[in-house]
Amino acid sequence: MTAIALPPSARASSHSPAAPAGPSDAFEIRPFDAALGAEVLGLDLNQPLADDDFARLHRAHLDHHVLVFRDQRISPVAHVSFSRRWGPLEVHVLRNFQLPGHPEILQVSNLRDEAGQPLGLGDAGVFWHSDLSYKEKPSLGSLLHAQELPAEGGDTLFANQHLAYEQLPQALKIAIEGRKAEHSYLARYEELRLRNPWRPRLSDAQIAEVKPAVHPVVRIHPETGRRALFVSEHFTTRIVGLPDDESRDLLAQLFDHSTRPRLVYRHRWQPHDLVFWDNRSLLHLASGCPPTLRRHLHRTTVEGDATLG
Ligand code: SIN
Repeated sequence: MTAIALPPSARASSHSPAAPAGPSDAFEIRPFDAALGAEVLGLDLNQPLADDDFARLHRAHLDHHVLVFRDQRISPVAHVSFSRRWGPLEVHVLRNFQLPGHPEILQVSNLRDEAGQPLGLGDAGVFWHSDLSYKEKPSLGSLLHAQELPAEGGDTLFANQHLAYEQLPQALKIAIEGRKAEHSYLARYEELRLRNPWRPRLSDAQIAEVKPAVHPVVRIHPETGRRALFVSEHFTTRIVGLPDDESRDLLAQLFDHSTRPRLVYRHRWQPHDLVFWDNRSLLHLASGCPPTLRRHLHRTTVEGDATLG
């Protein structure tokens, strides 16, 4: 993707009340009082999106890292079509959890079909992670659309990894300077499968599809040029070139630092929310809900670029 470095004055334009009149004023972008995130009000994604409106959303996504589109009563077709505006879509390796007829949609769900088979990945996101960080080209972002929400729990937490890097103690910044880390889809797969036996055993073909990848511990965002920490407790297995104990110790310190409460926005879902987050800037975590309550969402995942460090 082409780098677009905007001057600081442009950063305010996405939510400035003084923005010029025109199609871009048709909806409101309201930043949250948090380390990240903004909600988009008054936009109907069933309607075609004008190029200048898309540009405004793009700028806001880079500024706030999470956009919450409220009250989106959209079909899977519209969800896929809006997601494609941001780039080509990934198809998740767990094909059995696709929405039938829509291979780009992963069902994040604790529901079962009539035959008792799980409809979706019920334990998606139980450890902090960035989606598809185990790929050579990790994801740009993910769009999660609420279908059915529990009356209690089920929140999603997001942690700002630009701030995490900027607020890192100097000694840790020096320790990770120029370092790379390995990310693997298999890192905790068996642990999760033992907890949740409905997770399928992976075939050889699936394992070949998710070969580990190595990325800079501090990545440079390809569009804004900002640095961000890029390790997670779910997928990062080791820091390349360090003895195992040093690597474990350093990663533990980074995991702890990167998800401190002051870096986190907690999303409490509302009906028909569509949440679009930047996997290059954030980690996220599903907080879980009581197993007796139903939770069902649809996720698309936009392809990203090779990491820069
Ligand atoms: C995910 O990690 O994509 C799922 C997050 C959630 O279910 O809240």
